[in-house]
Amino acid sequence: MLGVDQPVNLNLLEIPAASAAVQGVVMELNDCAFATLNRITATSDANEGFKDCNFAMLVGARPRGPGMERKDLLLENAKIFSAQGKALDAVASRDVRVLVVGNPANTNSLIAQHNAPSLPRNRFTAMTRLDHNRGLAQLKEKSGAALEQVKKVIIWGNHSATQYPDLHHATVGGKPALSLVDSSWFKDSFIPTVQQRGAAIIKARGTSSAASAAAAALDHVHDWMLGTPPGDWVSMGVSSDGSYGIPEGVIYSYRYLQERRLQHRAGIGDQRFQPRKMQATQRELLEERDGVKDLI
Ligand code: LMR
Repeated sequence: MLGVDQPVNLNLLEIPAASAAVQGVVMELNDCAFATLNRITATSDANEGFKDCNFAMLVGARPRGPGMERKDLLLENAKIFSAQGKALDAVASRDVRVLVVGNPANTNSLIAQHNAPSLPRNRFTAMTRLDHNRGLAQLKEKSGAALEQVKKVIIWGNHSATQYPDLHHATVGGKPALSLVDSSWFKDSFIPTVQQRGAAIIKARGTSSAASAAAAALDHVHDWMLGTPPGDWVSMGVSSDGSYGIPEGVIYSYRYLQERRLQHRAGIGDQRFQPRKMQATQRELLEERDGVKDLI
């Protein structure tokens, strides 16, 4: 995640009820003999777990079960993320970078951020890299190209079914992706497949995505810390600065290059279709924010 020669001290934070199980995880991690894993600590005390940490990956949340909407989990999980935000505020390294994976990730990140007022707002992000990777995989399969030829997918908005997976800027082997695929495939297959992928995995497995989510979390932190791939960008939920007309402060997924949000390039893409999709996911985020207003 941080490079092949960067040793990592891993602090695992678990609820007390799972403190025996976490010891099994510690044993397995040790048994992996990872070259970069220096030290592991397991605790159920957030102030110990986050002490001086440089990277916080907030993956623990009540998982969504079959038929549950992410919004049902909002209040349940909001308590976890306000407590974790407070602990980060109190004890984390002042340069901490926070990735929220637990759903609803964008709003959980907002809650943690608002409960950590002494940390810079741009240190709180939400994971839409999983959706981004899903988009790359779909386009790779459709185009038959090698993965490294597929670039510049963008996930806009919320890590939910309202997200807008956008191919207007995507390229395959340097050619515009939308010149290689039917627009009906883009609108009727690509967009709903990426939007619904999490639910499809839950339906198939009876439990949420795990390996793909873990891989995306590593990608997210790696590229945030070490830089985005040359000639490409990634997608990341970050605190909106008002660009693209998204209300300031909402944790919204944008295309992300290094640590700098790109400016909107007028004239690229279908300007009627795109804003409507971007606003639909924005509306959901505002509703979610409204649902947790007492915690932020
Ligand atoms: C995913 O996208 O796979 C997960 O976020 C789905 C979920 O709600 O757990």
